[in-house]
Amino acid sequence: MIRYARTADRPAIAKVVEAAFGRADEARIVERLRADGDAMFELVAEADGALVGHVMFSRLWADRSELYTALGPMAVRPDVQRSGIGSGLVRAGLESAPEFGAVGVLVLGHTGYYPRFGFTAAAAAQVASPFQGLPAFMALGLAAGAFAAPMTVAYPDAFGT
Ligand SMILES: CC(C)(COP(=O)(O)OP(=O)(O)OC[C@H]1O[C@@H](n2cnc3c(N)ncnc32)[C@H](O)[C@@H]1OP(=O)(O)O)[C@@H](O)C(=O)NCCC(=O)NCCS
Repeated sequence: MIRYARTADRPAIAKVVEAAFGRADEARIVERLRADGDAMFELVAEADGALVGHVMFSRLWADRSELYTALGPMAVRPDVQRSGIGSGLVRAGLESAPEFGAVGVLVLGHTGYYPRFGFTAAAAAQVASPFQGLPAFMALGLAAGAFAAPMTVAYPDAFGT
């Protein structure tokens, strides 16, 4: 089951994020995004009453009036990876993002994973950001023309860019 994260989920989210990445850095980014008010929304996946996955969508600052969001960090508990949980989280997040006003999503992630959801490096090519030009920097428009013109985005401080 996928649902929006609640405050009470935070300790369990931290455990899943740390276990997935094998270090604490990304869990700290998640906490900092919340503390700074830069989290847009968070989804969690539950299985058999346990929290097994998490994805963060945070806000970005673009040089235009429309709102853009960044996907990540995303984490699935290691023992249940490769069973579709991550895909479920991404798809649910992409459905929810327009409800929060986002017209486009940026991700810095595995090049073998995110294209299956429609993300491309080509769409991100005109986005000036600390990650511009990296193959892992990919974008997906949720509204027509979201990435049609050159733009500049700034990331929340939590990402340390
Ligand atoms: C990446 C991650 C969130 C995917 O979640 P998941 O539930 O395992 O993903 P799904 O079951 O929906 O999809 C599995 C696919 O993801 C791919 N995948 C998983 N980890 C990957 C990686 N490190 N690099 C590339 N592809 C990866 C698998 O190859 C698999 O592809 P296939 O369906 O062609 O076999 C999860 O593996 C994870 O938490 N990894 C560690 C943390 C991390 O890297 N987070 C993402 C940062 S962008």
